[in-house]
Amino acid sequence: MENELFEAARGAMAKAHAPYSKFPVGAAILAEDGKIYTGANIENLSFPEGWCAETTAISHMVMAGQSKIVEVAVIAEKLALCPPCGGCRQRLAEFSGASTRIFLCDETGVKKTLSMSDLLPHSFETEVFG
Ligand code: THU
Repeated sequence: MENELFEAARGAMAKAHAPYSKFPVGAAILAEDGKIYTGANIENLSFPEGWCAETTAISHMVMAGQSKIVEVAVIAEKLALCPPCGGCRQRLAEFSGASTRIFLCDETGVKKTLSMSDLLPHSFETEVFG
């Protein structure tokens, strides 16, 4: 599944809309239903309005009715390994467990595997919202 996720993330990266940064990113999520949901970064001329590949992939997963991430792969064309940004770590954590695996890929495959708790230790958690 690791390799399938890598291929899906790489395919998604090819669809990035990144004319400003010229930094295409792709993400692929394996959800609990056994399906893969992909995303690319989508930038905007009004720079702060763009968003990350992981966020697009999460959106696809949620709109398919899924709420549990099993594994994630991330790839960026211009960076050997692209760890998700801080905001995306929190977004991924919303749908992950501590041991959910995050595969960091280069153009040849998975190069590093991290757990969600490696990626976002001491994450924001509270019972206040039920
Ligand atoms: N980017 C992602 O898509 N995911 C990340 O985790 C890091 C950054 C995108 C946002 C922006 O379109 C481009 O990479 C440069 O920051």
